[in-house]
Amino acid sequence: MDHDANRGSCSAVVGLQWGDEGKGKLVDRIAGEHDAVVRYNGGANAGHSVVVGGERYALHLIPSGILSSHVKAVIGNGVVVDPEVLLREIDGLRDRGVDTSNLVVSDRAHVVLQYHKDEDNLREALLTAGGGSGAIGTTKRGIGPAYADKVQRSAGVRVGDLLRPEILREKIERACLYKRAATAEICRELGVEAPAFDPEPVYEQAAGLGRRLAPMIDDTVYLLNGMVADGKSLLFEGANATLLDVDHGTYPYVTSSNSSALGIHAGSGVPASALSRVVGVLKAYSTRVGSGPMPTELHDALGERIRERGREYGTTTGRPRRVGWLDLVAARYAAMINGATEVAVTLLDVLAGLDELRVCVAYEIGGERTDRFVPDGHVLGGATPIYETLPGFGEEISECRGLDELPGAARAYVERIEEFVGVPVRTIGVGPERSQTIEASAGAMG
Ligand code: IMP
Repeated sequence: MDHDANRGSCSAVVGLQWGDEGKGKLVDRIAGEHDAVVRYNGGANAGHSVVVGGERYALHLIPSGILSSHVKAVIGNGVVVDPEVLLREIDGLRDRGVDTSNLVVSDRAHVVLQYHKDEDNLREALLTAGGGSGAIGTTKRGIGPAYADKVQRSAGVRVGDLLRPEILREKIERACLYKRAATAEICRELGVEAPAFDPEPVYEQAAGLGRRLAPMIDDTVYLLNGMVADGKSLLFEGANATLLDVDHGTYPYVTSSNSSALGIHAGSGVPASALSRVVGVLKAYSTRVGSGPMPTELHDALGERIRERGREYGTTTGRPRRVGWLDLVAARYAAMINGATEVAVTLLDVLAGLDELRVCVAYEIGGERTDRFVPDGHVLGGATPIYETLPGFGEEISECRGLDELPGAARAYVERIEEFVGVPVRTIGVGPERSQTIEASAGAMG
């Protein structure tokens, strides 16, 4: 394989905020220009909808590329796979006539089992018990416990293990033993009956699911590097988003993987030299699901209006999302650590009709002003946003297809984002449909 000949043929789409930036639409738009769409992190905590035969369909694990038959849809080693959810998604797509034979799952991805979801529930319950407000507000999809088992090693089940009965049984027995011990006290504290953590039914189910997944399981590291060496281009689809990254987000109010572009290489086995384009997706305002600091959060009627216009309810859990003004300090930080080469501003149409728009350009923390993001949930919780006010735009913009068709104030808003973040804005979303997009090849400021 000539590894140097094809440097830089890959792209990535990552969220610059707390998720739900509209990455799915971006991925859908450009998937066809690539040979594979690759998930490298997270699990069924993520969610985006695709439209199949005019019907909206929510996917949590399967990469969006599944809809293009010439594009491979790859679930990389960094993902935690709930086989039940995955098979349900496969069945749902097949029922709608979608060919899923281009789906490949890494033999090294870790498996989420029922006991991970039980553990996620118990840990969250403990954090909220007695009126405590310390919960992370997880999606309860077992993500954290599955990654914890991966790092702990002795009981972590990988997708390849689903096909090795003895190893699978041994790991599940060990995991159940650990979990019985680890949660007994929590259950006593909560006054709830402890889950059985009985290995046998977990094993039976996992082995059965493994038999169905078998034809899709492969060594995706060789597969992907082979594609790069053959001049093919890969599109990495980030799940969750930068400010939820376990190392670089608002810890501990984060997810359990490297959900920024920094996770791509470890989570897929494809080296950094292959990546040349990183699209940072930035919603025109902020949203967050679950707990944790969000300095620009709006608790008033304005926040409610943005939530309704933006249909800000979780794809995975249906929870209403918290809503706030755009935080440019956070966006600039996120663009920096992702190495974003371009920004896509999404849902700009949601802000139409507001008299004025605010963007956060600095924080005040402990009486000091700072223009640095603070990736520490506890410190950021004490930050007061310092705003800059920009004029609003009264007109609806969902029919605009060119930069010159946007009202001056909408364009000025995007230009301010570009200037502050320091990365060109090449795409502007003005509605949910693929076609409701403005391309600005040279960036919004030209
Ligand atoms: P977990 O990933 O289920 O452990 O949840 C940890 C935190 O990340 C919670 O606040 C979730 O609401 C949030 N989270 C995880 N994935 C997403 C996502 O795809 N969009 C928005 N929030 C997410």
